[in-house]
Amino acid sequence: MSDKRLLPFSLLCELTFHCPLQCPYCSNSTSYLHWLKKELSTEEWIRVLKEAQKLGILQVYFSGGEPLVRKDLITLIRTAHDLGFYSNMSTGGTLIHKELLKKIKEAGLDSIQLSIQDSRPESADLISGGKQSFEKKIKAARLIVELEIPLGINVVIHRHNIERISEIIDFAANLGAQRLELANTQYYGWALLNRKMLLPSKNQVEKAAKEASRAKEKYKGKMEILFVIPDYYSPFPKPCMQGWGKIYMTVSADGTVLPCQSARDIRSLNFPNIRSDNLENIWWNSEAFNKFRGTDFLPEPCKSCPRKEIDFGGCRCQAYLLTADAAATDPACVYSPFHSIIERIIQENDSKGQPSSDTRFIYRNLKNSKALS
Ligand code: SF4
Ligand code: FES
Repeated sequence: MSDKRLLPFSLLCELTFHCPLQCPYCSNSTSYLHWLKKELSTEEWIRVLKEAQKLGILQVYFSGGEPLVRKDLITLIRTAHDLGFYSNMSTGGTLIHKELLKKIKEAGLDSIQLSIQDSRPESADLISGGKQSFEKKIKAARLIVELEIPLGINVVIHRHNIERISEIIDFAANLGAQRLELANTQYYGWALLNRKMLLPSKNQVEKAAKEASRAKEKYKGKMEILFVIPDYYSPFPKPCMQGWGKIYMTVSADGTVLPCQSARDIRSLNFPNIRSDNLENIWWNSEAFNKFRGTDFLPEPCKSCPRKEIDFGGCRCQAYLLTADAAATDPACVYSPFHSIIERIIQENDSKGQPSSDTRFIYRNLKNSKALS
């Protein structure tokens, strides 16, 4: 089914799989095979950006891995700017220096999203798996503010930092962030492998939600704060990607085109590649983009549920990873026939009483990826 009224709004360009950090909750696929494939060249990325403009896309997000690893980043930012896109870069920040940042600004990047792991250095470095990464990120944040580039901060929230949520919020405000995303860990990719060590308890989540809501008042008009109750503790799933194939496209470093950045792990689908097709044809006609578009594919109970136009039956990646059927009702939903999977995970987690302080993470790196494949 292809709905000709839908036009994509946003393109995520995962410029590279390489990254100096190794966060154990990275949403990139755990499969190492794609790391070995040749990354798209500068010319190929420029073609992608031109095709995206033709398709009506308005926003381009550069990410990775770490986009600053790419030597042609300035050229790609300038191309996006000249094509009239709003552009944002999501970065770990450890490779930022003043000269590079000046060039990035001059090339026309509109904003930067900096990922920070925690408000305390030891914990931040432990999570990122990178020595002195905290210190480098703080320097990066100060430079971004000094050069007057709008700064957003993203902090992935999990068991090991959730109790410092107020401290993290004050910390981001002091760094000069205009927007703070407190992103509860989503259990796909590397995070799914590390779920036992990352999933917070129900009590921790409830306390964090109250603190975040107080902070929203405190920083009203100064810093926008985003905090959404994580799927596992919410009765209904989120409208993931605002609907499959509805507004988002991702082009990955090897040219694979995905309806969602985590979709590569859905093994029952074949994803097209920009090297053998064009974005417009992929958006309208590929099986991958049409398979779960709209709500016609949904089984019961979603089929007759009034919320299906709100949440589209939840997340396709989560449905696949927990039930092996990407079309299933997301197990996060209380009405899902698979909801007991989530209940069991939460029970096992909460039965430990205090959340465990186990930090023997499986880090995101090539060695672990190979060992897992
Ligand atoms: Fe959403 Fe389906 Fe649950 Fe209804 S049954 S709330 S549509 S996931
Ligand atoms: Fe892929 Fe939700 S993360 S559809």
